[in-house]
Amino acid sequence: MTEAKLEAWLEETRSFAPSTEFAQQANAQPSLYGEASADPVAWWREQAERLTWTTAPSSTLEWDPPFATWFGDGTLNASYNCVDRHVEAGRGDKVAYHWVGDAEGESRITTYAELQKMVARCANALTELGVTAGDRVAVYLPMIPEAIVTMLAIVRLGAIHSVVFAGFSADALSSRILDSDCRFVVTADGAFRRGTASPLKPAVDEALETCPNVKAVLVVRRTGGEVGWVDGRDHWWHVVVERQSDQHTYESFPAEQTMFIMYTSGTTAKPKGIFHTTGGYLTHVATTYHYIFDVKPETDVCWTAADIGWITGHSYIVYGPLLNGVTQVLYEGLPDSGGKDRWWRIIEHHQVSILYTAPTTIRTLMKWGTQYPASADLSSLRLLGTVGEPINPEAWMWYREHVGGNRCPIVDTWWQTETGGILISPLPGITATKPGAAMTPFPGINVDVVDNDGRSVGNGQGGYLVLTAPWPGMTRGIYGDPARFKETYWSRFPGSYFAGDGAKRDEDGDLWLLGRIDDVMNISGHRLSTTEVEHALVGHPSVAEAAVVGAYDEITGQAIVAFVTLRGTAEGGEMDPALIIEELRQHVANVISPIARPRQIILTPELPKTRSGKIMRRLLRDVAENRQLGDVTTLTDPTVVNMISALMESHPSSED
Ligand code: PRX
Repeated sequence: MTEAKLEAWLEETRSFAPSTEFAQQANAQPSLYGEASADPVAWWREQAERLTWTTAPSSTLEWDPPFATWFGDGTLNASYNCVDRHVEAGRGDKVAYHWVGDAEGESRITTYAELQKMVARCANALTELGVTAGDRVAVYLPMIPEAIVTMLAIVRLGAIHSVVFAGFSADALSSRILDSDCRFVVTADGAFRRGTASPLKPAVDEALETCPNVKAVLVVRRTGGEVGWVDGRDHWWHVVVERQSDQHTYESFPAEQTMFIMYTSGTTAKPKGIFHTTGGYLTHVATTYHYIFDVKPETDVCWTAADIGWITGHSYIVYGPLLNGVTQVLYEGLPDSGGKDRWWRIIEHHQVSILYTAPTTIRTLMKWGTQYPASADLSSLRLLGTVGEPINPEAWMWYREHVGGNRCPIVDTWWQTETGGILISPLPGITATKPGAAMTPFPGINVDVVDNDGRSVGNGQGGYLVLTAPWPGMTRGIYGDPARFKETYWSRFPGSYFAGDGAKRDEDGDLWLLGRIDDVMNISGHRLSTTEVEHALVGHPSVAEAAVVGAYDEITGQAIVAFVTLRGTAEGGEMDPALIIEELRQHVANVISPIARPRQIILTPELPKTRSGKIMRRLLRDVAENRQLGDVTTLTDPTVVNMISALMESHPSSED
């Protein structure tokens, strides 16, 4: 964000209290904060009663920093908690999902009773393929009901899912499979995007060339058409799953059984396998979903517009909502699949009452114009949420007025892959919200904003966001790398979890999240590290060196800008810059994902470096955002920056 925009943001003074009607009916009443802060650990133990335990835990928290155990001697089954118990309670006919396909008119309704049978069949099929408790299973699927069924079946068996966003490349998939030694993959032949089928199975086939330990691949037929096939390894879902019994007796597992791994970008080129365990994670997402989204399972229709390939999908499409037994919309398509009013028609048709999405999507919808939301009846909406990146006040106000009809509270929820569930958010019946602020730690959560020396800053000041006490949904570590876990999160401020975000407490003590303070970028709410993209660029034979920064972008929050020095050609000739830039952008998309494709690539004969040879990214960010250049005195050659500035001005057009 530019300095001017940040300042305007932090000068925001508007505040919106919930209506009396909303406040009166809210799940979270003002006494909640006091109840939780009196004894947070005991409060979380009470919240664990939201789950059905096979063996109730007698212990709550054991804390051997940075390793926590929550509800350590309890046992339960995650899938039973999400599905079977609702059926047993006589709610089997309730709709779990209204699935809405990418194509107009394509939809499927799944009740809790049907979901139970689908999960049982899938669990039986996975057992037949050899999956047992503790095995890692990679899931590489589009937004179809089978994705959720697969996740629930895996955890039902006490196995561990590692869902890889279906937009990731074969390389990204294979490195994730290898890192956690996944033995099984569940995928589809392809996925639909705006009516076009794009293949997925070829990426799996390519990835598995380097993953000899994968024993079986289960393939959902989604798009039809030819697919490559490895006999003995590959199995069609409609053959293997559909012929199974729809009954499955579950086993119970310890609360600290690993439930899933989710890879996320850190500050190095290698993504981190963040893992979560069962009892604490489920308690956290069930509780936050209940209070922050104020869900009334009998009447609400909830839509979390995210992908199951990210943590938001795990916590607030799959586990949080299902634990609460709500009805949801599950949408396969893009915001404009079938027209720019598609979203609003979905809300009207399904009478969606709770909508949760990312600021980048809101900004895109805003850019398209108010005529689209105005063309639909959105009066069913009663609560709105945002997640994934700071929301600018302008987008917040647009969301409030044009989507929420000035009546719906907005919850701006701050959290991370590592935190498992939401940690900072307004409570919708209590908090007077400010546009752009995540406001208040959730009950039972201890947050602080500290200075360089770890001292709390006062109101009106900014600093680093830390968590000063453990919470149930916190990651239990980086898969296979406890040393990196300690180093990344727990060494900067000993005893506290360092989130990597900057934050400010305003004069009232409310929290404003200011974005990452490390080399992690946030592109449309997707986390990518600068080094990861640099690594991809230098993997191209023409590239000698690359430096990547996240620069402010109106729509995507940040956009990737890469500064690249090329090797000389073997023939000593000149390459066409436009061609090489396009080739490099495509190369990054192939190696990581289209979401990592740089917005701009600037070819430069040199990069600015300190005397010790470190690339000065801060300066490059200044250049990319056209800011006044910061201190260049430690540069080996200060003229390099001016040269790059001039290059940027003369080549602004490598954008899409
Ligand atoms: O920088 C913060 C930003 O997203 C990062 C976490 O990314 P990820 O693990 O991919 O999870 C995204 C979905 C939970 C954080 O370190 N972030 C997330 N929510 C907010 C946010 N920044 C500001 N405001 C938020 N509400």
